[in-house]
Amino acid sequence: MSHPELEAYWLPFTSNRYFKQHPKLMVSAKGAYYRTESGRELFDCLSGMWCCPLGHAHPKIIEALVQQAEILDYSPAFQVGNATTFRLAERIADLAPAGLDHVFFANSGSEAVDTALKISLAYHRVRGEAGRFRMIGRERAYHGVGFGGISVGGMVANRKAFASAMLPGVDHLPHTWNLSQMAFSRGQPAWGSHLADELERLVALHDASTIAAVIVEPVQGSAGVLVPPLGYLQRLREICTRHGILLIFDEVITGFGRLGANFGAQRLGVIPDMITFAKGVTNGVIPMGGVILRREIYEAFMHAQAPEYAVELFHGYTYSGHPIAAAVGLAVLDIYQQEGLFERALALEPVLEAAVHSLKGEPGVIDVRNFGLTAGVDLEPFSGQPGRRAFKVFEYGFEHDQLFRFTADTIAMGPPFISTPAEIERMVEQLRMAIRAVQPD
Ligand SMILES: Cc1ncc(COP(=O)(O)O)c(C=O)c1O
Repeated sequence: MSHPELEAYWLPFTSNRYFKQHPKLMVSAKGAYYRTESGRELFDCLSGMWCCPLGHAHPKIIEALVQQAEILDYSPAFQVGNATTFRLAERIADLAPAGLDHVFFANSGSEAVDTALKISLAYHRVRGEAGRFRMIGRERAYHGVGFGGISVGGMVANRKAFASAMLPGVDHLPHTWNLSQMAFSRGQPAWGSHLADELERLVALHDASTIAAVIVEPVQGSAGVLVPPLGYLQRLREICTRHGILLIFDEVITGFGRLGANFGAQRLGVIPDMITFAKGVTNGVIPMGGVILRREIYEAFMHAQAPEYAVELFHGYTYSGHPIAAAVGLAVLDIYQQEGLFERALALEPVLEAAVHSLKGEPGVIDVRNFGLTAGVDLEPFSGQPGRRAFKVFEYGFEHDQLFRFTADTIAMGPPFISTPAEIERMVEQLRMAIRAVQPD
């Protein structure tokens, strides 16, 4: 069927030709469920796109949004400020590991990543080490879609069309997933901490004096929930510290409770120099992202030899620290804290773990992984049809009340923190039915 009314909009990261023949339209959302145009109620298996841990249409968030819109709907982001945004920065800094106590606001994860990369370059320059220009990312990483993010990212499909425009001097660590060593791991795999030593090899190759920063997701989310091996991030931290390289954790997914702690840094016991965040900070209600950074980084800029009226960092967005986003952020952080939802995410971890690992032995299931309130299930691709099997699981879910998320042949799950154990178990049972039902074309 053709849908001329859907023609104008080019959907991101979507098979547009297929979508426009088989549209999937949401009309409303409440709690952990979406309602579709055909009247189905779909459970939100990935909390939107990892961004709605509180579910949808929370009355306190709506109230904060409307109130702020009435009082101050916008004020310029440069050279003036407003109290709501300052309060949110303080609240975020309070949640961050000790020592990371300054916040720079952006509007998305991609902008947060590009901001952190730019701060790392400018930081070394302001300290007289402008020769540090290299960035180290990791295979299979997703750091958004800015030119910085795709350069340090490690997803081939996101890079190849733009290969000519990558940042210079970027190198990559190997990813840590190894089927023969860690299939069906629960939590952090025991194997693989030695892969961090690849950073020593890159330092030997490029020389530390040319390397500005290493950026990693504590848990690689978009690649399908790749959990860091025990001791791996600690080793990265040691090597970065030894060589004066900044360590950036991209916590766009893992921040704000997803791993059962304020940030992945705290859950994993490794403190980086900068943390990027987005998604959960506003529960997906309105775009916001940012970077939390060590005081020393901020102070290096403030102590630079320049007059007081000089701008210290030539970077920022029209909507950096938007007052409505900030008001929503404050309401969201209040709800997380007042309702103990990070603790609830931690308490739900064993429920999700037991449920997803029961999929071992189902047709085509080659790996299951979990950590915090996240899980990934890898399916053996149908012969000659990479990605088709998981796509069919997604389609099956849509007809059976589950909004699954897939990348290649991996199904990722990250249910809302407000989910009940029964909802999580039902989500996995529906996934089991889908896995059993789908067949090659
Ligand atoms: C780790 C990470 N960084 C950055 C991004 C990009 O965020 P956005 O889509 O808000 O630009 C994502 C999005 O999923 C992400 O998972």
